[in-house]
Amino acid sequence: MRTLREISLLREALDEFRHRGQRIALVPTMGNLHEGHLALVAEARRRGDVVVATIFVNPLQFGAGEDLDAYPRTLADDQTKLEDAGCDLLFAPETTTLYPRGLEGQTRVCVPEVSEGLCGGDRPGHFDGVATVVTMLFHLVQPDIACFGEKDYQQLAVIRRLVADLHLPVDVVGVPIVRAEDGLALSSRNGYLDAAQRATAPLLYCTLCALREALAAGADPDDTLADGLARLREAGFAPDYLELRNADLGPVTATTREAVLLAAARLGPTRLIDNLSLTLPR
Ligand code: PAF
Repeated sequence: MRTLREISLLREALDEFRHRGQRIALVPTMGNLHEGHLALVAEARRRGDVVVATIFVNPLQFGAGEDLDAYPRTLADDQTKLEDAGCDLLFAPETTTLYPRGLEGQTRVCVPEVSEGLCGGDRPGHFDGVATVVTMLFHLVQPDIACFGEKDYQQLAVIRRLVADLHLPVDVVGVPIVRAEDGLALSSRNGYLDAAQRATAPLLYCTLCALREALAAGADPDDTLADGLARLREAGFAPDYLELRNADLGPVTATTREAVLLAAARLGPTRLIDNLSLTLPR
């Protein structure tokens, strides 16, 4: 696997793949790779002839006071994992390579509506930062396929909308959440949890499972969500949101069948997110 840091070298390498008629599958990441990321690489491997991963801790998607500086940077380890997973090329640019004029005057991509509320409500500007860097990576790599985790459900919805609205010729593939044995969704931020918090963290998933069961059995959504919030607070979480939306993140109505429960909750300074899809009864 080659690691490239410069745009010109990336373009040269990609030209070679395209010349050979190979389908390029892209896996954008911020590094500190775990099994969830490797599932993205495996899916990209299945769908493309060539797998290109990117590692870039994107400052544009971090708000003031968020964990940009603390975000784990583990490039050497990540390179080994990607190589073992069958990745062909890694693009790991410096911040100044993608944002040579700094962040202030940077052209940004905004995906309205779907970026609002949920994580977009708690993290203003976050999805503009994600949409901007993903658009940039799509232009630089021009992939046929791009794989993203379903753990970041709203992010995936934002990227799907972006691709549709800008008519980008990229097949966006959502890859199911990878969980630890106790149910905790894998995330680079799980590394911030101390032992006691790590023991509590799976209760986020357990709560979503209990709510899904209740809703699938016809329980009232408002009562069920209120019960879920109380459970999370009792377990020691500070919930940012717990919501039931339709699968496209619109409001649930009497005719909604395919829905999703979404939660974000803090354990100490660590913000965890999770979601669970469900079918509502008629
Ligand atoms: O999901 C992530 O790791 C990031 O938000 C992404 C998509 C790589 C953009 O920086």
